Amino acid sequence: MGPFRWPTVTNFITRKKKENFLTLESNKLPRHIAIIMDGNGRWAQKRGLPRAAGHRAGVESLREIVEACAELGIAVLTVYAFSTENWKRPQEEVDVLMNLLTEYLQKESTELHRKNVRINPIGRIASLPETARHELARAVNLTKDNKGLILNIALNYGGRAELVDATRAIAQKVISGEISPQEITEEVIAANLYTGSLPDPDLLIRPSGEFRISNYLLWQSAYTEFWFTDVFWPEFKREHLYQALQDYICRERRFGGIKK
Ligand code: FPP
Repeated sequence: MGPFRWPTVTNFITRKKKENFLTLESNKLPRHIAIIMDGNGRWAQKRGLPRAAGHRAGVESLREIVEACAELGIAVLTVYAFSTENWKRPQEEVDVLMNLLTEYLQKESTELHRKNVRINPIGRIASLPETARHELARAVNLTKDNKGLILNIALNYGGRAELVDATRAIAQKVISGEISPQEITEEVIAANLYTGSLPDPDLLIRPSGEFRISNYLLWQSAYTEFWFTDVFWPEFKREHLYQALQDYICRERRFGGIKK
């Protein structure tokens, strides 16, 4: 992926919500939103449904939130779809998730392409099943020239694995003489992460009442604003995204400095 260019944000969204007007000024919106799509299993359990039904309902939320982010002119959305630790789940559930991913890409790629979305998988993609890799490659190729929302799908992703992979890549460059150890800076490390030249997430959303980072974007979230809700991911819709954005635009970000 080439160097990241800040998009020119032109959207100004005003939606009538009951008597209140919800106004989101686009110059204050986050450029990069990260989401941990958590709570699919519990959502299903509460309804006496199999966990697979929760994951399937989670895909519907993903579809809605991607659409909303594209409309709002958000530059990057990173969703946690499968972690390096998720292989510990029963094989049946792993298969369900991989099949849902394949199905999502088969069904949605054309529409995402039409919406100018660029699909960008991040993680140890080479270890995914062949069918999923094939669909990912097809979706990446189809959308590679799009200039709208960048949709990072974190798959077989772990923040620690990402740092290990970046360290290995940098070590190779030192061995080959491309750079010296003194030239390893924060910028060099960031550039060697899966997210490369993309900006760090401004806002990280975790639904389902959990307050953990779960090995997600460990380096990139150094100054990310966090937003939590009790709502399970399958129930997470546009209105919840707008709530998170409204909270976010009221926050003061100091990045370790002091109030201006
Ligand atoms: C964590 O919640 C969620 C996951 C491990 C999978 C998220 C996947 C999807 C929403 C759908 C598939 C993805 C794509 C890109 C099509 P959990 O289900 O473990 O919830 P629990 O903590 O309630 O058990």
